Amino acid sequence: MAKVLLGVTGSVAAIYTPNLFNDLQSAGHEVRIVATTAACYFFEPASIASTSTGERNKNLITLDADEWPDTRYQRGDPVLHIELRRWADLFVIAPCDANTLAKLALGITDNCLTCVYRAWDRTRPIVIAPAMNTLMWEHPATARQLAQIAADLGTSLRLVAPIEKKLACDDIGVGAMAERDEIIAAIRNQPLPSTNGNVRPV
Ligand SMILES: Cc1cc2nc3c(=O)[nH]c(=O)nc-3n(C[C@H](O)[C@H](O)[C@H](O)COP(=O)(O)O)c2cc1C
Repeated sequence: MAKVLLGVTGSVAAIYTPNLFNDLQSAGHEVRIVATTAACYFFEPASIASTSTGERNKNLITLDADEWPDTRYQRGDPVLHIELRRWADLFVIAPCDANTLAKLALGITDNCLTCVYRAWDRTRPIVIAPAMNTLMWEHPATARQLAQIAADLGTSLRLVAPIEKKLACDDIGVGAMAERDEIIAAIRNQPLPSTNGNVRPV
C-alpha cells in the first residue's frame, strides 16, 4: 500500500477530512495531511491525530505555520514541503477548492500545500478532487486551469470529477466533491464500475 499525502483546502467538503483520513488508513495506506489555513475552518486537526497531551500531531498533520517555526532557519534544517514530497508516493488533493486549483495551474507556491505540488516528482501520481459551487465549476477558468494542469502533469494526473448534489450553499448542481470511495479507487487507479469513468487518468 502507498504513503499517501492528503492535501486539504478550504472547501466545505473539508468537513469530511476525518472520514477520508480514516478510509485511507482502512484501505491500508500510510497517511499524512497537509492542510491550508482555510481548510482548518472546516475540521479540527487535533481531532484526527493528536499527541498524548491532546495537541495536534505535527508528524501527521502539517499546517502552514509549521513551515515557518519561531526559531531562525539554519542550514541543514529540513525544508518541510520537500520532506513531505520525499516521503509521499502519492499526493491526493481532496477537496481541491477553486482558489488552490487556480494556484496549481499557475504554479503559485504561497503555502505548504502548493509548494509540495510545485516540488512534486511528476513521475508519481497526483489525485485531484475538485469541490466548489456549481457556477464556480462551470466558470471558463475551471476548464482552462484543468487543461493546464493536465498538460503539466500528463499521465500523473488522476482527476476525480465533482458530482451533482444539493450543495452546502443550497444550490443544486455539479460541484460537490466525489464520494470518498471514488477517491480511494483513484489511488488504486481503478475506476469504480458504478462511476462510469468518473475517475479520469488524463
Ligand atoms: C463557508 C465557506 C465555504 C466555502 N466553500 C468553498 C468550496 O466548497 N469550494 C471553493 O472553491 N471555495 C470555497 N470557499 C472559499 C475558499 O475557502 C476561499 O477561496 C479560500 O481562500 C481558499 O483558500 P485555500 O485554497 O488556500 O484553502 C468557501 C468559503 C467559506 C467561507
